[in-house]
Amino acid sequence: MKAFFCRAYGGPEVLELREVATPSPKADEILVKIAATTVNSGDARIRAARFPRGMGLIGKLVLGISGPRQPILGTELAGVVVETGKDVRRFKKGDEVFAFPGVKLGCHAEFRTLQENQSVFLKPENLSFAEASSISFGGTSALHFLRKAELRAGEKILVIGASGAVGSAIVQIAKHLGAEITAVTSATNAALVRSLGATNVIDYRSEDFLARGETYDVIAETAGTTTFRRAKHLLKKNGRFLAIAAEVPDMLAMIWSSAIYGKRVIAGPAEETEEAVSQIAEWAKAGILKPVIDRTYGFEEIPDAHAYVDTGRKKGSVVILVNPA
Ligand SMILES: NC(=O)c1ccc[n+]([C@@H]2O[C@H](COP(=O)([O-])OP(=O)(O)OC[C@H]3O[C@@H](n4cnc5c(N)ncnc54)[C@H](OP(=O)(O)O)[C@@H]3O)[C@@H](O)[C@H]2O)c1
Repeated sequence: MKAFFCRAYGGPEVLELREVATPSPKADEILVKIAATTVNSGDARIRAARFPRGMGLIGKLVLGISGPRQPILGTELAGVVVETGKDVRRFKKGDEVFAFPGVKLGCHAEFRTLQENQSVFLKPENLSFAEASSISFGGTSALHFLRKAELRAGEKILVIGASGAVGSAIVQIAKHLGAEITAVTSATNAALVRSLGATNVIDYRSEDFLARGETYDVIAETAGTTTFRRAKHLLKKNGRFLAIAAEVPDMLAMIWSSAIYGKRVIAGPAEETEEAVSQIAEWAKAGILKPVIDRTYGFEEIPDAHAYVDTGRKKGSVVILVNPA
């Protein structure tokens, strides 16, 4: 099979198309012929070793010193089961599935084996392969942080970076939970974020949202441009600051923000649980969480997709059509 290997940390040019043996499923595994996958901000961060400042060494100890230990990137996929191990009970050949291996990666290839209980589910019938491949990364990250924030109906949330993969999912889930959403985005994406559920939109290029008089119960920061220290005056008493793209200062603020200001900072990696992926699939099936796809690329164009993700301008997801049906 063909697969893209990330042979060192660096720009999109470090990605190399190679021919490798197609894996065989173990007893409890399925082999999926991948129809679609994505290149997301997580893939681009790993490829470029773009860690929070001061965390470079820890990041490389975890992921690999000179390049990622798992050289085939790609956190999510949708495709068709083509083989099953002898103990597999949940799936059969021909099933259309989607999966979120997450940090285990390995989806930028024509095939991937997966344990049958490794966050793999039947593809919702109302979603195409491209759509099903795109819902897990942004969706589960958004769900993790909104659950930690315990966002309630009637609360006001400010979403900074509302047009990205995580931001667009936060807007939709917050809308479903009954919150009032103010989105911070550029004018180009105003119509998109309104269509997803934002009531108010602030164009960060023409207005400084930090200078507004408004206050919020929750701030979801996904753009990496604002810290708790700069934005805390926008939070109501008992407000929560979701530092989703956190650098070290916000990680430290988790320790002291409640005691000093009565406002919580929530940071750290989103948990990747099977239950979260299943919840995202339920919402996608019910039309509560709509996939937002910016561009699609062919499999051999994965380096071009990385270059686009690196611009920081993508809306929702960038999908790779691997084996289009
Ligand atoms: N903690 C975790 O576990 C976790 C999980 C997932 C992601 N993350 C992190 O969260 C961040 C967001 O991820 P993502 O996948 O959603 O990124 P993304 O899809 O690449 O975000 C791109 C979007 O960000 C918007 N944007 C850029 N600068 C902005 C600004 N100054 N103000 C408002 N919006 C701005 C862009 O809109 P415009 O073109 O309109 O500017 C674009 O639509 C990344 O840093 C990622 O590493 C963390």
